Amino acid sequence: MKSGLGSISVIGMGYVGLCTATAFASKGFRTVGIDIDEKKIEQIQHGIAPLYEPQLDGVLKKAVKKKLLVATSDISQAVNTSSTFLTVGTPSRSDGSIDLSYVEKATGELGTALRQKKSYHLVIVKSTVVPGTTRKTVRPILARSSSKNIGTDLGLCSNPEFLKEGTAIDDALHPDKIVIGSDDEKSSRMLKQLYTRFYGRNLPPIILTNPETAELVKYASNAFLATKISFINTIANIAQEIPGVDVNQVAEAIGHDPRIGPLFLKAGPGYGGSCFHKDIEALINFSEDFGYSPILLRATEETNVRQAGRVVELAEKLTGSLQGKKIAVLGIAFKKDTDDIREAASLRVINLLLKKGARVTTYDPMAIPNARKVISENVEFAADERSALNGADCCIVMTEWNQFRRLRAKDYQAHMHTSSLVDARKLYDPKDYGTLNFTAIGLGPNQ
Ligand code: UDX
Repeated sequence: MKSGLGSISVIGMGYVGLCTATAFASKGFRTVGIDIDEKKIEQIQHGIAPLYEPQLDGVLKKAVKKKLLVATSDISQAVNTSSTFLTVGTPSRSDGSIDLSYVEKATGELGTALRQKKSYHLVIVKSTVVPGTTRKTVRPILARSSSKNIGTDLGLCSNPEFLKEGTAIDDALHPDKIVIGSDDEKSSRMLKQLYTRFYGRNLPPIILTNPETAELVKYASNAFLATKISFINTIANIAQEIPGVDVNQVAEAIGHDPRIGPLFLKAGPGYGGSCFHKDIEALINFSEDFGYSPILLRATEETNVRQAGRVVELAEKLTGSLQGKKIAVLGIAFKKDTDDIREAASLRVINLLLKKGARVTTYDPMAIPNARKVISENVEFAADERSALNGADCCIVMTEWNQFRRLRAKDYQAHMHTSSLVDARKLYDPKDYGTLNFTAIGLGPNQ
């Protein structure tokens, strides 16, 4: 165990909390992971991750075995650590605004537990929260429930996370920056020291600021990334109408300009996942509350929703009316290497296909159990990609799984009734699929 700065606790064992706790424990910090879900806690205590995340299982198992990571549903265990990260969820309400009830509840319970603590304790808000939440919501609840003075008895910081699903452990171990927002120097100094111990010589740039700026950085980051995707999808939709043009080449060329950069310019069926849609809606809602309508962000979201329609239009172009046609949808997860289907573009596409009277068969290497819970019972789930293709009139590739990348033109031909293929992820080189009735997002018609 590292001495000096003591140990840490993390409240909320969702994907951010668990990956954060595991990363700290892997560096030798004594870490307490806290959650109200007893089943989750039991799994973590046995070194089993309650969610799929590459690398997590191995690192978690080691940390639990070494007793560096302890999981409990008893929030009072946080008192025996020096700092507590709040990583509970901040879902959307039906109007898109942020639901802070978990943050409020966890803060109140932590504060009550901290009443008995004699020494200083640092509280860090890592959950994604709209600007002002740390100051106007967390701070007063913490002060009231603990009967302590914030700034002297208790420290308080905002410290957003930027973890990507699928690479969360790696992102936690090698972040490109750390953002710390606080009103008092002692809190930010202590968190900076904690991270200095964590990263040692690999300490990334640390941006020290106030809580509101730190909170807005997280939203700005996600809004920018999502806008970049909606931007390239817009260009893709234009490219699609121009003979001989492929948006991939356009993206590659503009990406050489350092002001634009090459990443996050992959045209596709639209973004999904737990963050982009939720956070952009929360930011729009937050802005509209003070009378500003961020039309750019509305357009980002609108473009994203409409992109599913563009994918279905491509299928119609190849196949004609979809009524009664068998359509194979390869991939349900919002991106590869995850079983997460939250806000996945595949769900929007499948719904549109069903509305048009198509018969849908789908396959995903990991996401079927999750998909079964939300997808209409009219959709058939196949045992593998080849059986999904059997007898299909058209196939739409929706997720960039490596095993789909390996399918050749002859594989499609061997299984399908009519080998029409919509590459919504741009997995394939069009040259190699010329024997099929092939099209892709952002690919203009043949000259
Ligand atoms: C995202 C942010 O990247 C992360 O910093 C934040 O903390 C949480 O939200 P994540 O949701 O895990 O992470 O997914 P990400 O890898 O960013 O992809 C989001 C979506 O955009 C996926 O559906 C992906 O397929 C899509 N995408 C991404 C594109 O369509 N094109 C691209 O060029 C990049």
